[in-house]
Amino acid sequence: MDQIEKRHSLIKAWLQEAAALLRESFNKELEIKEKTSRTDLVTNMDRAIEVFLYEKITAHFPDERILGEESVGHDIQDLEGIVWIIDPIDGTLNFIKQGENFAIMIAIYEDGVGHMGYIYDVVRDELYFAIRDNGAYCNERRLPLVQELPLSEGLVAISNRLVVADADEARRIAKKSSGLRVNGSAGLETAWVASGKLVAYIAPSLAPWDIAAGMVIAEEVGLVYRQVTGKEINLLQNNAVIVANRCAFQDIRNEWR
Ligand code: IPD
Ligand code: CA
Ligand code: CA
Repeated sequence: MDQIEKRHSLIKAWLQEAAALLRESFNKELEIKEKTSRTDLVTNMDRAIEVFLYEKITAHFPDERILGEESVGHDIQDLEGIVWIIDPIDGTLNFIKQGENFAIMIAIYEDGVGHMGYIYDVVRDELYFAIRDNGAYCNERRLPLVQELPLSEGLVAISNRLVVADADEARRIAKKSSGLRVNGSAGLETAWVASGKLVAYIAPSLAPWDIAAGMVIAEEVGLVYRQVTGKEINLLQNNAVIVANRCAFQDIRNEWR
């Protein structure tokens, strides 16, 4: 546990430092570039935060590997040993266009098993985190196990990509729920399912760094975090995912064509 406590304190301190860098950036002009399209943007701060975390991790844990969205870390082809999985800004479009609704995400996996997961909502100052077998928290508050609510009794979040790619699917699921939300940060939407604000989150193509931290938190509150096919998540590729309590998960699967 000493090792875990040490890592936990370091990660929390790094997240505060990284958040301060992001807050400072609000007063400066962002450098914004298109990655693959006009809806897939990256800023100088995405890279700056990934470099910051990379340097901290390698200074303290030089033998451990890092998988990061902005490719500052290692070329990861397997999950042997300890692998840090980081998304420096989850919700970059929100960061650019809203100045809120984005998060910094860090996870630690060992031999493919998630041990620590952190999703930091910088603007709300809400740190969602979980340590395997030790529960999940939002700041100091322990998150209870999720309620087994059906889809019909809760709000469901869907990624914009699903609405655009398969509007019929999205409409069917939205109709069966209490209401649809599209927030634009896979990490925060997962954290909100874990804290009971949403009953489920669905996305047709999430990368390993979109999933890793949230999956550790989901596990600790009794959520199912699976591919839409029902298969386990594969953290070496993109996945179409559902995060939900068991009951809502089944309801969504029943609507899935
Ligand atoms: C994106 C966000 C978005 C989700 C996309 C992700 P990014 O992450 O989480 O909500 O729909 O699939 O790529 O690019 O802002 O880190
Ligand atoms: Ca992301
Ligand atoms: Ca990102």
